[in-house]
Amino acid sequence: MSQELVLNAHNLKQHYHVKQGLFKPEATVKAVDGVSFTLDRGKTLAVVGESGCGKSTLGRMLTMIETPTEGQLNFLGEDLLSLSKEQQKELRQKIQIIFQNPYGSLNPRKKIGAILEEPLVINTQLNKAERKAKALAMMAKVGLKTEHYDRYPHMFSGGQRQRIAIARGLMLDPEIIVADEPVSALDVSVQAQVLNLMMDLQQEFGLSYVFISHDLSVVEHIADEVMVMYLGKVVEHGKSEDVFTQPKHPYTQALLSSTPQLSSDKRRQRIKLQGELPSPLNPPSGCAFHGRCQYANERCSKETPVLRSHADAHLIACHAVEEERLESFSGAA
Ligand SMILES: Nc1ncnc2c1ncn2[C@@H]1O[C@H](COP(=O)(O)OP(=O)(O)OP(=O)(O)O)[C@@H](O)[C@H]1O
Ligand code: SF4
Ligand SMILES: [Mg+2]
Repeated sequence: MSQELVLNAHNLKQHYHVKQGLFKPEATVKAVDGVSFTLDRGKTLAVVGESGCGKSTLGRMLTMIETPTEGQLNFLGEDLLSLSKEQQKELRQKIQIIFQNPYGSLNPRKKIGAILEEPLVINTQLNKAERKAKALAMMAKVGLKTEHYDRYPHMFSGGQRQRIAIARGLMLDPEIIVADEPVSALDVSVQAQVLNLMMDLQQEFGLSYVFISHDLSVVEHIADEVMVMYLGKVVEHGKSEDVFTQPKHPYTQALLSSTPQLSSDKRRQRIKLQGELPSPLNPPSGCAFHGRCQYANERCSKETPVLRSHADAHLIACHAVEEERLESFSGAA
């Protein structure tokens, strides 16, 4: 089957200027610093990395909640960032976001029916009866019952609330869902149900997902591709099975080895992630990971590694990988 390109992000940057104190100069946080990727119809790109690496900032740019400092964003052939506000508004409906916290993201004073119909009131010409029919149909798709239509968010469990948030995200027939830690606030038993639901809906509606998670075990089954970020930059990006079975970047190796829920046959040597994540206000020179990397050498502290394609479109930004110094941990143990 031929792939259809839905989203093409090129060199996206989000640099925030932050005040450090009354008499100190402004500092720049490079929350996202040159991220590029493509997303095909019906596919899932997982974006992973530790807290603060820029995942949510990337998600806000993709959904045009924030305008990038720099870069291009092409959605179904349209250059999103050069469009007028009016044109952007129309296309924005096709890229929806779902947040981590299903408690905070639903208006507690509105009934489920009204929550689901709100996007239709704002963006479509559908009449009241048509809106209700669409809301009820979507509720059924996400596993909610007709009688839930007149209930308030507080009457639901976390998992059900996330189903409501997903249903709301689907009301305008989007092409892309950016899911920012959609199951991180849920019990492990409920996580699998919501992930399965998301996979079913993806099949049914041909949705493309950008699935953000700090937890690699969550994305293992849902992701077609995995993109690993570290301090605003992509350090590794490849097919999910390649990243999970043959992670190449020392940071991905460390992240994976500290992920407890991976099936035992895929468990590999434990590589301890040393030290703390550096401050994004004062990132290290060269490879930002060098202070925590057991393979770091002098070059690493001076020269920033470039993201390059290695075997079969597997992208890695690491001097040691390029220099073939890392043979000892290529492949699963
Ligand atoms: N509006 C803002 N102004 C200044 N700095 C910001 C802003 N938003 C995010 N940042 C900073 O940008 C960096 C990336 O933040 P972001 O929330 O995107 O990370 P994240 O990967 O989503 O983290 P988490 O896993 O904790 O959700 C952090 O250092 C954060 O403090
Ligand atoms: S470039 Fe150097 S410091 Fe960075 S991950 Fe590779 S070996 Fe480690
Ligand atoms: Mg986040």
